[in-house]
Amino acid sequence: MEFSIKSGSPEKQRTACVVVGVFESRKLTLPAELLDKASNGYIADIIRRGDMEGKAGTTLLLHSVPGTLADRILLVGLGKEKDFREKEFGNAIRVAVKTLNDTGAFDATFFLTELAVRKRSTAWRIRQATLIALDTTYKFDQFKSKKDDVRRPLRKLTLAVERRNELSEAEEAQAQGVAIAEGLALTKTLGNLPPNVCHPSYLADQARSMAETFKLDCEILERADMEALGMHALLAVARGSHQPPKLIALTYKGAKAADKPIVLVGKGVTFDTGGISLKPAAEMDEMKYDMCGAASVLGTMQAVARMQLPINLTVIVPATENMPGGNATRPGDIVTAMSGQTIEILNTDAEGRLILCDALTYAERFDPDTVIDVATLTGACVVALGNIASGVFSNKDSLARDLLDAGEEAHDRAWHMPLWDDYQDLLKSPFADMANIGGRWGGAITAACFLSRFTKKYDWAHLDIAGTAWKSGADKGATGRPVPLLTHYLLQRAGKLD
Ligand code: BES
Ligand code: MN
Ligand code: ZN
Repeated sequence: MEFSIKSGSPEKQRTACVVVGVFESRKLTLPAELLDKASNGYIADIIRRGDMEGKAGTTLLLHSVPGTLADRILLVGLGKEKDFREKEFGNAIRVAVKTLNDTGAFDATFFLTELAVRKRSTAWRIRQATLIALDTTYKFDQFKSKKDDVRRPLRKLTLAVERRNELSEAEEAQAQGVAIAEGLALTKTLGNLPPNVCHPSYLADQARSMAETFKLDCEILERADMEALGMHALLAVARGSHQPPKLIALTYKGAKAADKPIVLVGKGVTFDTGGISLKPAAEMDEMKYDMCGAASVLGTMQAVARMQLPINLTVIVPATENMPGGNATRPGDIVTAMSGQTIEILNTDAEGRLILCDALTYAERFDPDTVIDVATLTGACVVALGNIASGVFSNKDSLARDLLDAGEEAHDRAWHMPLWDDYQDLLKSPFADMANIGGRWGGAITAACFLSRFTKKYDWAHLDIAGTAWKSGADKGATGRPVPLLTHYLLQRAGKLD
């Protein structure tokens, strides 16, 4: 889709469709009122007859409205004005784009972006509208032999701003929206790909090609490299698989060489059977999504590189399958992690923390300013927060705060969970420095506590996205979360948010 920004009056737009909002009950927004005036009350008449109440999610398409230059006008219901917030704004954009894809209009001018959203700037509205418009058209149909293509898809979208002096900031925000949407789409696609296609070597190939396109440094560690580094926790998970593990590191340099990088680490278990501690059969296919942390840091890297943000960023992806087999790790095995700490593996299904702990130790080599890991780590986090919020854990409260704020800004929300020392005792092992599980209660917290033992040398946060990375049921699919949160955090760090 092509994008542009414009300031002007709705009645003067020569376009296939002008899109304006109507609040409940039957309250025209300012651009809708302007169209109504130009048409001599034509729109108010229709509304009076009861065809558009303004309820959220509803639309009404009008053709050849007198006194206006557009072929069509699309009225979009916005719900009650006093309840109109971030979520309602996003839904209005989504509904409008979906509706337009069902009409013959190839291009449209949205005046929805002039709607006031409490505490949100013009740049926010443009960034968000662009991101959501593109995301609405996301499809994953590469394995369907018959695609149900949109007959006449929306090709060009113009977003309106009220004043001419907002044009340049709006254009920058729009470019950010496009970059984030493309990162989000990459993340969704990597997540949705079947596990026989998207294995560790596939992720490594993706990283190589991204490095090529965006001129990034790319380093791929093979099994032998991991052995030399003593990454026996990561290697323990990979033992049962016939797919070779990979540890991917991509580096983008947008700031001075002396600026310490932000490092993102993403869990890349391309399929989690549980290993010898085998998972039950029901819904096991969803464990192809156990690499969504990896997918999200790769998507975030792509967005940052495309925006050319003035920061230094490294992403690290430990990638492996977790399979049972004659050579697989047994419950009771003890391994030494790269940090030198010993781990008694009591449950081979608690594998995420095992691959992350070595990746987090490896992160020290980049002399990081901040390290954030992203992982579909625990079912317990889904029990705690459902699929609305991701869990945030951190050894620095201000970092947790910044991530929560970024999640609010992006409407990709997270919730701060405790990481108190009191929980650490649950990881005691009679035979090793620690066990890899902490018992039945507080599972998301004990998992984070485990990771915290490998992140003492830097400011660190952990995002548990087990509940938010994908949806089950009829509209099964990767959500792309937390790419919006991460990209907004990095925009903030780059000084690009107001
Ligand atoms: N990948 C899973 C976590 C998961 C489970 C995410 C279900 C989303 C939905 C992880 O590797 C895992 O299996 N965790 C175990 C840990 C337990 C053995 C301590 C869990 O949460 O059950
Ligand atoms: Mn597991
Ligand atoms: Zn897992």
